[in-house]
Amino acid sequence: MNILFVCLGNICRSPTAEGVFRRLAEREAPSLAASLLVDSAGTADYHVGSPPDPRTIAAARARGYDLSSLRARQVMPHDFQRFDLLLAMDLANARDLQAIAPADSRHRVNLLLEHAPELQLQEVPDPYYGSSIDFERVIDLVEAASRGLLRKLAQS
Ligand code: 4NP
Repeated sequence: MNILFVCLGNICRSPTAEGVFRRLAEREAPSLAASLLVDSAGTADYHVGSPPDPRTIAAARARGYDLSSLRARQVMPHDFQRFDLLLAMDLANARDLQAIAPADSRHRVNLLLEHAPELQLQEVPDPYYGSSIDFERVIDLVEAASRGLLRKLAQS
């Protein structure tokens, strides 16, 4: 199972999702983790080649996740062949993905928070113009969805 987490810039939300999901999978479902390919990308090219935002790295580090080696990249057409699931952080990301997805791959594009229905939220809010509490909130939401996704994958 290959999973791509997608946001706008690939420096805040989707690298958080990549690092948190990978770490939780390794810790809580190691045999499943070995069969997963996990990556992240942005719909925009603003930050290609950059590490995650320093506020993202700091918030993740405080919760035990090391995101410092990640580098931003943009979603590519090839990603729709390579990934079984493309999980968007917000509705705009999902719409942008749908717009470039081949017709037979559109069903692979979903919202990340569909995997945390208990939250009753659709979107991981963009923290870029926010404060440290907004970056912590990204981790809360991403952890909940990662656990839900892991449960689903473990059952299937
Ligand atoms: P992300 O956050 O999509 O979660 O990586 C953003 C990063 C950069 C910008 C916007 C959102 N930006 O406008 O540069």
